[in-house]
Amino acid sequence: MAGITEPQTLSLKGTQMKTLKTINNAWLLIENGLILSFGEMKNLPESKGVDILNVSGQIVLPAFVDSHTHLVFAEWREHEFIDRINGLSYQEIAAKGGGILNSAEKLAQTSEEVLLKFALTRIEEVMKTGTGAIEIKSGYGLNLDAEMKMLRVIKKLKEIASIPIKSTLLGAHAVPLKYRNNKADYLKIVTNEMIPLAASEGLADFVDVFCEKNNFIVEDMLEVINAGKKHGLRAKVHVNQFNILGGVPAAVGAGALSVDHLEVMNDIDFDALISGNTIPTALPGCSFFLDLPYAPARRMIDSGLPLCLASDYNPGSSPSGNMQFIVSLACIKQHLLPAEAINAATINGAASLGLSHELGSIAVGKKANIIITKEIPSIDFIPYSFGGNVVDKLIVGGHIID
Ligand code: NIG
Ligand code: FE
Repeated sequence: MAGITEPQTLSLKGTQMKTLKTINNAWLLIENGLILSFGEMKNLPESKGVDILNVSGQIVLPAFVDSHTHLVFAEWREHEFIDRINGLSYQEIAAKGGGILNSAEKLAQTSEEVLLKFALTRIEEVMKTGTGAIEIKSGYGLNLDAEMKMLRVIKKLKEIASIPIKSTLLGAHAVPLKYRNNKADYLKIVTNEMIPLAASEGLADFVDVFCEKNNFIVEDMLEVINAGKKHGLRAKVHVNQFNILGGVPAAVGAGALSVDHLEVMNDIDFDALISGNTIPTALPGCSFFLDLPYAPARRMIDSGLPLCLASDYNPGSSPSGNMQFIVSLACIKQHLLPAEAINAATINGAASLGLSHELGSIAVGKKANIIITKEIPSIDFIPYSFGGNVVDKLIVGGHIID
């Protein structure tokens, strides 16, 4: 059994991430969906009336917490994948009205019922590869009604899906065509209408904004972060995917919970993260799929930061929510050790959703959201066997999911 922490450990940083605390030959007792106790088999207490699951030869781990996804969407965008193979860049496709705007057009024509059905299927699919909690963003609505429609779908998913879900309002994802020359007016809709409504109806847990050339500049991002703050919603923001605009120090200074992407970073960004409390989140699936540089995750850990890893599951830049593959990429392309990558995808994922007091590690009192692997030789085998699936069973809140 690996991935054990003290209940009060809320994230792991720097060299702490190298250790995935392990007990060989362990037992784990779950009661009312929570981890009640655990220990070595040689100290197994007598227990009566307990259902026993024998997993000898297998490994018990905390389930992955995927803290950044866009998994409510109407259609895949595999034709844009072909456009990219033929030489267009992701940004060129977006500038032509493809990309996020394409997804918004498709979403407008799709009912909440259908969106819900597709999204639920995707959640069930990522659970098979070990995801035991997930964040989902809006951002393919791009007007008040359609953003609320996406958030209602996420709210419904919270009710019917088996895993815990957090919801993020990403109204400022792209500038809709009709506001191309009047971005300030669109931003006002985001800050003065979407955020207050989402907050008052309990439809969002966080706010987000895509801070990037041709999307939203740093000042826009700060307006979104501050509007969120006013309504009790913390920010998790998209920054430094293609360009360094100063979004990292600004977001850290404004108290963002996480800064996500970070494919490009400079010393100022590192200094801001080192002196702040914001969690840096790398999305290596996006780098892989768009053939971009990878976030300097090794340097982040070596700088003492609490690096987090997430899938960014979405139809444009990362059409997979397989967290095992994310962990493999982090090891292969970002030179993380398996333990570092697993900590980044579990306890630090939970931290970046404000959930690490109840999820993300094996600790007394936390929710029993755990993975039981197949019989594998070691933890290292998980990223090593890239593209495979080591999960035998996922347990959520103490229930074995079929
Ligand atoms: O995190 N970069 C901004 N947003 C998403 C992609 C959205 C899309 O292409 O549909 C991301 O990569
Ligand atoms: Fe994203």
